[in-house]
Amino acid sequence: MQITSFNQYEEDYKKSIENPEQFWGEVAQNFQWRKPWFKVLSWNFNEPDIKWFEGAKLNITENCLDRHLEKNGDKPAIIWEPNNPEEESVTLTYKMLHERVCRFANVLKRNGAKKGDRICIYMPMVPELAIAVLACARIGAVHSVIFGGFSAKSIADRINDSQCKLVITADGAYRGNKQIPLKDVIDDALIGCPTVEKCIVLTHVRTPVSMLKGRDVWWEDEVKHVNDICEAEEMDAEDMLFILYTSGSTGKPKGVVHTCGGYMVYAGYTFTNVFNYQPGEVYFCTADIGWITGHSYIVYGPLSQGATSVLFEGIPTYPNASRFWDIVEKHKVNTLYTAPTAIRSLMSFGEEPLQGKDLSSIRVLGSVGEPINEEAWHWFDEKIGHGKAPIVDTWWQTETGGIMISPIATVTPTKPSYATLPLPGIQPILVDENGKEIEGNGVSGNLCIKFPWPGMLRTTYGDHERCKQTYFSTYENLYFTGDGCLRDEDGYYRITGRVDDVLNVSGHRIGTAEVENAINMHAGVVESAVVGYPHDVKGQGIYAFVINPEMHGEAELTKKDILQTVTRVIGAIAKPDKILFVFGLPKTRSGKIMRRILRKIAEGDTANLGDTSTLLDPGVVEEIIAASKALK
Ligand code: WT7
Repeated sequence: MQITSFNQYEEDYKKSIENPEQFWGEVAQNFQWRKPWFKVLSWNFNEPDIKWFEGAKLNITENCLDRHLEKNGDKPAIIWEPNNPEEESVTLTYKMLHERVCRFANVLKRNGAKKGDRICIYMPMVPELAIAVLACARIGAVHSVIFGGFSAKSIADRINDSQCKLVITADGAYRGNKQIPLKDVIDDALIGCPTVEKCIVLTHVRTPVSMLKGRDVWWEDEVKHVNDICEAEEMDAEDMLFILYTSGSTGKPKGVVHTCGGYMVYAGYTFTNVFNYQPGEVYFCTADIGWITGHSYIVYGPLSQGATSVLFEGIPTYPNASRFWDIVEKHKVNTLYTAPTAIRSLMSFGEEPLQGKDLSSIRVLGSVGEPINEEAWHWFDEKIGHGKAPIVDTWWQTETGGIMISPIATVTPTKPSYATLPLPGIQPILVDENGKEIEGNGVSGNLCIKFPWPGMLRTTYGDHERCKQTYFSTYENLYFTGDGCLRDEDGYYRITGRVDDVLNVSGHRIGTAEVENAINMHAGVVESAVVGYPHDVKGQGIYAFVINPEMHGEAELTKKDILQTVTRVIGAIAKPDKILFVFGLPKTRSGKIMRRILRKIAEGDTANLGDTSTLLDPGVVEEIIAASKALK
């Protein structure tokens, strides 16, 4: 199933469009099924109702673990690199990983988990996180991994939305020179989570935690009570595999649902192709498993293909800005898959951190999460790839399950800051505001997908109507991505960024409404409006316009209070970079905030505000502009 020439890509693409069922049926033969499907695809984008590999039975962990044991049991599955470079790294072979997953799966069962139960995972980037994820899949429980940077309130909202029965966490996490008290945060969250019966706690940072009798148990104790034999649960291709919460234009994050069969096929197929993975190579994705990139391209994609996946606990700048390059050298990394924000941040340290680092093992480079600017692309290409490693700029989303538009390494000619061409099976289309297709090349519009692919979301947990409204109602019979996009003269795609009220801050997806709701929780705040603005390292920064008549002249302190509130309500990742206190917001006569104007002001482009005649009080704009100029 690996594409090795551009010619083959073109042929496969053609085939995948002309006969999608035959194409994906053949791809799926490369995986292990307990029972075959009777129908490859049935679909309806209006409902939406999408089924792939109907009737088929499988367990994804048999594909990620068991099937490699005979030939590759002693091959490294996971290489763990700890936050502190002085500590030993850990290698888990496929045999070892299989054994630990089975053992922990038995721990889950012992604590009352069964097929279909939802389990929340809130953990540091340690091997046990991958083990916990796979153990859920082993017994058919649905995992909902929550990134370690989210607050207690965010966790509680997510746990309650999907009524999780169990939580898996650790005493704490390391992030550079910081420690995050994960168990404390979970304790706060669980006060408001009546469905949670058990909490399994891994010892990691060895900080004191409080263990609630009857609810909390230690991972290390539990594994002693069970053996390591655990038959995988037989799952239907369309049974739920996991939920992953993501932000949209409304306040409440959505639980994106992925199912077993299609997701597995898509994650595995795209992994092996996009990165041109070769047996024995070491692959390093720097994402956190708390995001979709980690699900698909640290855990399921690589392991389903028998690859060696590096799992890194730390951050790119700890203990210094050489860390990624030290890891590349130490583990002889062949593929490095990271985010533009990390590249830009490392660029800013100059060449000194690269001195004397042996990066010769690198063969393929990847970028994900946000548009990569040309400067960062060239730096990545020249300084890290030495002009020899193709860069795959991979465009996709939590909802798509896997990479959609991307070069295929060594196959597709690349172009700086272009995601290039759709992968086989993916049918992108650009539409105008009215949903009319924009044909031809050298055009731009809103990016939609007009045909299903196996990795696509099936619903949003507990609220199918919301899935329909968000993705399938804007334009009839199309999946709407929320992204703007241009297609150049060569038919190459370049993603230009969100066209909705979603921000992309350091590759993290944050809804403006979510941040506004959080700011508005602060006593004294009457109203707020949040927009993004260009930020050199983060891609986008968060700019908040806040009406707060009660700050008693203590603007700096009030700002800090607001940041604290946002951290409490969402998490530190959603903290505004700039807060501007204003007396009013630019509103239309119908009371709608004109964000277009605020965006311009945030960008510092106040000369071109466009038409402001529909504003209720145009004077407000002058006031805001004057205040914004005084803001540092
Ligand atoms: C949004 C999805 C895909 C995993 C990580 C983010 C933006 C993603 C690219 C890219 C330009 C990109 C889009 C998309 N995005 N990859 N290569 N070039 N933009 O997943 O949190 O669901 O965010 O990230 O705006 O809609 P996510």
